[in-house]
Amino acid sequence: MSLFGTLRTPRHLVFGAGQRHALAGYATALGHRALVVTDERLGVDQEFIRLVDSLKQAGLDTKVFDGTIAELPVECIARAVEAGRAVGADLVIGIGGGSCLDAAKVTALLLAHGGKASDYYGEFKIPAPVLPLILMPTTSGTGSEVTPVAVVTDPDRAVKVGIASPHIISHTAICDPELTWSCPPGLTAVSGADALTHAIEAFTTLRREPTGTIVHEHVFLGKNALSDNYALLAISHIVSSLKRACDNGSDIEARERLMLGATAAGLAFGTAGTAAAHAVQYPVGAMTHTPHGAGVAVMMPYVMEFNRAHCEPELVEIGQAMGLDLMGMTTFERASVTIDAVDALFASVGIPKTVADLGVVSSQLPLVCEQAMGSARLIKNNPRPIELDTMAILVEAAFSGDRASLRATATTR
Ligand SMILES: NC(=O)c1ccc[n+]([C@@H]2O[C@H](COP(=O)([O-])OP(=O)(O)OC[C@H]3O[C@@H](n4cnc5c(N)ncnc54)[C@H](O)[C@@H]3O)[C@@H](O)[C@H]2O)c1
Ligand SMILES: [Fe+2]
Repeated sequence: MSLFGTLRTPRHLVFGAGQRHALAGYATALGHRALVVTDERLGVDQEFIRLVDSLKQAGLDTKVFDGTIAELPVECIARAVEAGRAVGADLVIGIGGGSCLDAAKVTALLLAHGGKASDYYGEFKIPAPVLPLILMPTTSGTGSEVTPVAVVTDPDRAVKVGIASPHIISHTAICDPELTWSCPPGLTAVSGADALTHAIEAFTTLRREPTGTIVHEHVFLGKNALSDNYALLAISHIVSSLKRACDNGSDIEARERLMLGATAAGLAFGTAGTAAAHAVQYPVGAMTHTPHGAGVAVMMPYVMEFNRAHCEPELVEIGQAMGLDLMGMTTFERASVTIDAVDALFASVGIPKTVADLGVVSSQLPLVCEQAMGSARLIKNNPRPIELDTMAILVEAAFSGDRASLRATATTR
């Protein structure tokens, strides 16, 4: 297959300690009336208040909406939109974890085009550009600051739903690792595990035949030569920093590497996509109210094993990017060592081993499978084709903790 690559990225991406101070300069170039979308925790944070003051001093009319609720129920977005309308916002700035960034994305969408979030569920449903967006993450995790998707909780839907369109990629992403210093170990672990899962899923996702119109047919295109580069960058930074940042939140180098890795993982999956680990997390998260990052990380080693026959060389490359010693082994053994190392890393930061540990009970497994299959944009990206019966095998193994059983079910390329 010939070389093919695509990047969908913000116009500006700046990373580094202290770079939050670039906010006002970027904002004044984009608008006059800014809506800042955040949550209650950050709304009273002294550093946040200083950032908002810097916007005001730069001459921007600035309104703060601090009503974002974690996991993003759609009702809170409606309130953000009201706040934005009331001030005639022409710029939306999201500051916070993935929930705040996604809230800002959907708010910029609804302020520009009206309607409600559900009008835009799915891929390519946004007709034209949204209000300009500046996103500044305070967790090292989702990569939402650079991705073309926002994920919301809708009471009318059993599982979380995505709005995926290149139009909701931020105009400017500002990644300042100092904003993550306040993340407690548990949050650092689950958000960092989410980021590593993004990188691994992006690197192992299906590689499609690059037709001349592929970029208009899929928001998430599958594995490609440019997303691969960011996925490997992300894996090496996250693997070398995740445990360090969890064990010692003041380890500045680890904090920096983890955030650079999380943003790079966003660049990788924002084009390539994620797959089965994310598909299964949506129902598991809805049933157990456990964090997104914990659910995807529980699934990742099982999904790697399930997919092995369709991505063994890629698993070996992941092991190499992790810095594992794979000398003198067969490809099969190298892939095995890589999967075990991902499992061990997640265990070392407190990620549970099974979906049962997350709170799923056996009677829920059929519904987990059915709802996971409903995430069409994720299922179609998995390198090994999945049907309901094979999904059941994957989910059963992740429930019982029997990763070895998946080896026997692996089909060949
Ligand atoms: N759009 C995307 O590309 C994408 C990708 C993956 C996940 N997501 C979504 O992102 C959300 C998860 O985001 P998240 O993991 O960043 O967590 P989050 O935004 O849900 O925040 C979790 C909690 O951490 C707190 N928090 C955030 N930053 C902090 C800091 N620096 N110090 C102390 N506390 C802090 C928040 O106030 C909140 O209480 C989910 O809704 C998930 O579905 C989106
Ligand atoms: Fe994720």
